Amino acid sequence: LHSSTLEKLGLVTAASALCKEYGAQNGFEIEFCAKNIPRTIQPDVALCAFRIVQEGLRNARKHSGATKATVELTRVGDNLRVSVSDEGTGFDVDELSAREGLGLRSMEERASFLGGRFELYAELGKGTRIQAQVPLAPPMSRAKGHAG
Ligand SMILES: Nc1ncnc2c1ncn2[C@@H]1O[C@H](COP(=O)(O)OP(=O)(O)OP(=O)(O)O)[C@@H](O)[C@H]1O
Ligand SMILES: [Mg+2]
Repeated sequence: LHSSTLEKLGLVTAASALCKEYGAQNGFEIEFCAKNIPRTIQPDVALCAFRIVQEGLRNARKHSGATKATVELTRVGDNLRVSVSDEGTGFDVDELSAREGLGLRSMEERASFLGGRFELYAELGKGTRIQAQVPLAPPMSRAKGHAG
């Protein structure tokens, strides 16, 4: 996905299409829910959310063993909240540092780059939920050159 496509479609449409497509391609059931999302979202914020949905789904598909996942976009005050959750295997968060994955780290970096925060809840046998909350109007628009 190009960031220009994301700008044209808008975050909700693009994320919804991603869920449909990813679900169909992988035999994965994805529930998508958007609440209260403003029609226009700053491109850097939209891209951050979109990438988090992408990686969250990839992880759920690759690691959780679950056959479905839930994606939620919600406006919470001045923030955009994005979450991806599954009821799969979960994992031990304390063992994470030993692993070399880049996905979780890059989601956290994306969120904090825009002044937001990233949370990870996982419990063995119960599933995983990642959640990022990012200001809809990041304090500094220094993210202009931050493409990808
Ligand atoms: N939804 C999930 N269900 C179960 N385990 C997960 C889930 N998401 C992440 N994990 C665990 O956390 C680890 C780190 O995830 P991360 O996305 O950072 O790396 P990765 O997916 O292994 O590799 P990469 O994202 O770089 O391709 C995974 O290897 C996996 O063990
Ligand atoms: Mg990953």
